[in-house]
Amino acid sequence: MSFRIVRLKETPSTMIEARQHEPGTAVVAEAQTAGMGRGGRSWYSPPGLGLYVSIVLEPPCELEKLPVVTLALGLACQQAIQKIAGVTCDLRWPNDLLLNGKKCGGILVELHAGKVIAGIGINVNHLEFPEELRDLATSLRIITGREFNLDEVLEAVLDSVEEHVQLLKQQGTEPILRLFALSSSYARGRRVRVGQLEGITEGLDPCGFLWLRTLDDRRILIRSGDVRPVEP
Ligand code: BTN
Repeated sequence: MSFRIVRLKETPSTMIEARQHEPGTAVVAEAQTAGMGRGGRSWYSPPGLGLYVSIVLEPPCELEKLPVVTLALGLACQQAIQKIAGVTCDLRWPNDLLLNGKKCGGILVELHAGKVIAGIGINVNHLEFPEELRDLATSLRIITGREFNLDEVLEAVLDSVEEHVQLLKQQGTEPILRLFALSSSYARGRRVRVGQLEGITEGLDPCGFLWLRTLDDRRILIRSGDVRPVEP
């Protein structure tokens, strides 16, 4: 399947726009006025600098394993960024793309009327960020010193999403879980904080949730929340 692309100059959010479209459609905007991030946060979406795309998919796996779709999309973006920019981003469970410890992209997956809406935001040509994001965010341009063609980034991302979604459909969740565990420094053996909990990550469960061994030796399955590194 290659995706049918709907291009918009400006929209509140491609997540909302994508709801009206059928599976196989990718809605891409030059700018978003109310870009949505995970956990009710906003996504900084200035015109012409980032990739803002939402892809409509048939659910590629059982719905209780939907978190694996987020992991698959992260892997797809990691591969696309490697191809386009020659740098390897880290994947912070469940949805963050990191370069030098700062966020260069994020994934937002929603289920709407039986369809999966897979949102991808990548900071591509940004040279700077608003004050409140300065310590948290980076871009491919800041990291590499090069400017990128957004259409080439889109093409690389869509090709890689297609590849990873096919893998998920054909072989189930296991290969994606294995690849994520290999590609993310956060999947196992990382000291992190999640809300009030602090511990060491201990791999993924079959649905894509994260195991945490807390400092008081409890094994807790993290289903949501922001994972943050704790430096020793
Ligand atoms: C996150 O890391 O919090 C997820 C960010 C997802 C941002 C993308 S940009 C394209 C799509 N449209 C949105 O409004 N959000 C997603």
